[in-house]
Amino acid sequence: MEKKKQLIGIWDVKHTFESSVVIFFIIGAVATIAFCYANMDEQDKRSTTPPPPLVVDNPANYDSLDGCDLFSGKWVHDNHTYPLYKELQCPYITGEFACGQHGRMDSNYQQWRWQPHACNLPRLDGKEVLEKLRGKRVIFVGDSVIRNQWVSMVCLLQSVIRPGKKKMQKVPNVSLLTFKALEYNVSVDFYWAPLLVESNADHPSMHKTNDRIVRIESIEKHAKNWVNTDVLVFNSYLWWRMPEFKILNGSFEDSKQYNIVDSHHAYSMVLEVWSNWLYTHINHTRTQSYFMSMTATHHRGKEWGMKGGRNCYNETDPIMKDKFWESGSDLEMMRILESSLNKLKTKGVTVQMVNITQLTQYRKDAHPSIHRMYNSPLSTTQLLNPSSYADCTHWCLPGVPDVWNEILLAYVLQGHK
Ligand SMILES: *[C@@H]1O[C@H](CO)[C@@H](O)[C@H](O)[C@H]1NC(C)=O
Ligand SMILES: *[C@@H]1O[C@H](CO)[C@@H](O)[C@H](O)[C@H]1NC(C)=O
Ligand SMILES: *[C@@H]1O[C@H](CO)[C@@H](O)[C@H](O)[C@H]1NC(C)=O
Ligand SMILES: *[C@@H]1O[C@H](CO)[C@@H](O)[C@H](O)[C@H]1NC(C)=O
Ligand SMILES: *[C@@H]1O[C@H](CO)[C@@H](O)[C@H](O)[C@H]1NC(C)=O
Ligand SMILES: *[C@@H]1O[C@H](CO)[C@@H](O)[C@H](O)[C@H]1NC(C)=O
Ligand SMILES: *[C@@H]1O[C@H](CO)[C@@H](O)[C@H](O)[C@H]1NC(C)=O
Repeated sequence: MEKKKQLIGIWDVKHTFESSVVIFFIIGAVATIAFCYANMDEQDKRSTTPPPPLVVDNPANYDSLDGCDLFSGKWVHDNHTYPLYKELQCPYITGEFACGQHGRMDSNYQQWRWQPHACNLPRLDGKEVLEKLRGKRVIFVGDSVIRNQWVSMVCLLQSVIRPGKKKMQKVPNVSLLTFKALEYNVSVDFYWAPLLVESNADHPSMHKTNDRIVRIESIEKHAKNWVNTDVLVFNSYLWWRMPEFKILNGSFEDSKQYNIVDSHHAYSMVLEVWSNWLYTHINHTRTQSYFMSMTATHHRGKEWGMKGGRNCYNETDPIMKDKFWESGSDLEMMRILESSLNKLKTKGVTVQMVNITQLTQYRKDAHPSIHRMYNSPLSTTQLLNPSSYADCTHWCLPGVPDVWNEILLAYVLQGHK
């Protein structure tokens, strides 16, 4: 019994990694970068017509949120307010996030508002956000799920920026993509560091291996690119969902010595290194720091009453059962994160956890499933069983990550407590 459970566990990790994270980051990153360059002119032409005026039917403002628990709530169908933008109006949506462009026909999944029990989230106004961020740099650091959120943020903001006044660039020799709103001098960046510290997953596209090797003490190589920032937004979760890690002592070039450590242990080690870096290198008067909590994957249809073998494939409605929890979400890792953030707090450093875990649990309908780009042709066996290659990890855009950003901005714009 125990053995069987473990096998399923390993299969899941493999499945998550091979079919979603790894394979897709490969084309994902490369495609995003290529697409960004290729489409700048195109995009400028498309956005010469100003977007229609926003319908303000939600009078809430950021000040009214004080004291409200934004993470406790429910999804409400709202096709007046959502989606906040159209997929084809945002040229940065590519690869695993471009569900409509890869054949997804339903759009209900784009039309849900997150309704906290105790207050309303203000409707996002791109101009207001850019005005408040004027002169500032925001950076998203982590894996492809936070890249998903970064693309969403860029889409939310780019529609209100005039043609020729925005720029998307890849920074040479660094895993950094930067979106600039020139008139506002705002920069919204993404930095690929799925394990935060140095590892053999650092290359944005060439990182496929079954052997995960981490230099747990070595964060500076990446972190030196995160200084001089006003808003730091981290995530790091999915890539730690492997049974074990090789922790390297010394550099990749001249060391073959490593210790094998289980993932929870490795996760707490890395968060300690990260905490120490944040404590010593960041000016916390200038910089606000956030950590996005883990997001749900929907690999086990049985958990919402489907027959065996089904997952997020062909799902078009959210789960309405209150407090639904899918068993792949590792609460122990969330506790490790919470304890690291609490420790930082006792040292006077506040890193707000943006607790999106529960709200993602309900959204089995919002993953790309089979409607995304694949970098190699699918086999006949796969095609006969679409669940086998469905991506139940990432999220279609527009969609759920837009709501993460609305919540994040509620903190950023008014220092919500
Ligand atoms: C919006 O949703 C309602 C049901 O919630 C539906 O009756 C209506 O036709 C929808 N409107 C549009 C424009 O899709
Ligand atoms: C733009 O913002 C950066 C910080 O992100 C700042 O260093 C720079 O001086 C600003 N430039 C202008 C022209 O305001
Ligand atoms: C980037 O890397 C290439 C090859 O490794 C090197 O030739 C080049 O000088 C580097 N450029 C910068 C700006 O560091
Ligand atoms: C790493 O190597 C150094 C010397 O090369 C040694 O002093 C240290 O104890 C090692 N650390 C671990 C965790 O093995
Ligand atoms: C930290 O940032 C604040 C606000 O930008 C600034 O006034 C202060 O001089 C900075 N402190 C250091 C040590 O750089
Ligand atoms: C997908 O869902 C629709 C309705 O929700 C159903 O009619 C159809 O049979 C499903 N397809 C598969 C392959 O399960
Ligand atoms: C985050 O959400 C999870 C699930 O709802 C909950 O168990 C946890 O206590 C929350 N943590 C914080 C710090 O809000």
